[in-house]
Amino acid sequence: MIEHQQQEGILKIVFNRPEKKNSFTGAMYRELRELLIAGDQDPAVKVILLSGAGNTFSAGNDIQDFINSPITLEDAPPINLLRSLAELKKPLIAAVDGFAVGIGSTMLFHCDLVYAQKGARFIFPFVALGLVPEGAITLLMPHLIGHQRSSEILFFGEPLSAEEAYKMGFVNKIILESSALHYAEERAKALTAMSSGSLLQTKALLKSGRLKSEILEQIDAEASLFMERLTGPAAKEALSAFMEKRVPKFKDLD
Ligand code: COA
Repeated sequence: MIEHQQQEGILKIVFNRPEKKNSFTGAMYRELRELLIAGDQDPAVKVILLSGAGNTFSAGNDIQDFINSPITLEDAPPINLLRSLAELKKPLIAAVDGFAVGIGSTMLFHCDLVYAQKGARFIFPFVALGLVPEGAITLLMPHLIGHQRSSEILFFGEPLSAEEAYKMGFVNKIILESSALHYAEERAKALTAMSSGSLLQTKALLKSGRLKSEILEQIDAEASLFMERLTGPAAKEALSAFMEKRVPKFKDLD
């Protein structure tokens, strides 16, 4: 369900579970993390490119998985993946078509270049699911757009258009004519022709300093609240409501 192909210095990773909108199971997180770490260490890989199959980037964590096997501190594949994304050394590009939801959106804040297809939608549904945000988004989003605009997005969890994401600054370009994937592949190819030492050092500089350690600390701080809430009454109600295709009722649920 995570496919990959390595060609001319580009490691192309595709989330391929279109019948469930490329939502992530525990096994998929583990597979993706292993691929990223291996790609980061492989001298033949210059750039890593993420995309989703079937006109969807990813609908985030598999909700049935959240219900059946809530993540714990000892085994938290999504959190381990987010830590690895934050620590990745090689340039990471995402091509987003369709929906990017939950971790499908938060992971974009750890990419270096994000290209979105016209019509792409970005959703941060954590409060709507009775949870808290993850992936250091409560640090990275205010860093980009300030506290009030972040609160609007994270409290209400309403879909953001590609244009809004571009204006916020976490999308580099909206692709109107060709496909976002095709454009991202062209950009990846252009990077492979550059000095990989310069690229690696530039990325390291961009990510150096206090922000890097703050990101890792925030990932962990959010994760411990996230896990606590995942088995709480509000999340249980919201996750069951999604699977039963009904609106959740949060009244009197903390
Ligand atoms: N986990 C498990 N199954 C999911 C899923 C998820 N995160 N997202 C979508 N699916 C499943 C749906 O249940 C549906 O399955 P079914 O055909 O067996 O009923 C199928 O994928 C298609 O999804 P659907 O909701 O019909 O597609 P849509 O185009 O109307 O909406 C989304 C797309 C992404 C907006 C919507 O599916 C959604 O909101 N998903 C949940 C996202 C979410 O909250 N993720 C958790 C973040 S922490």
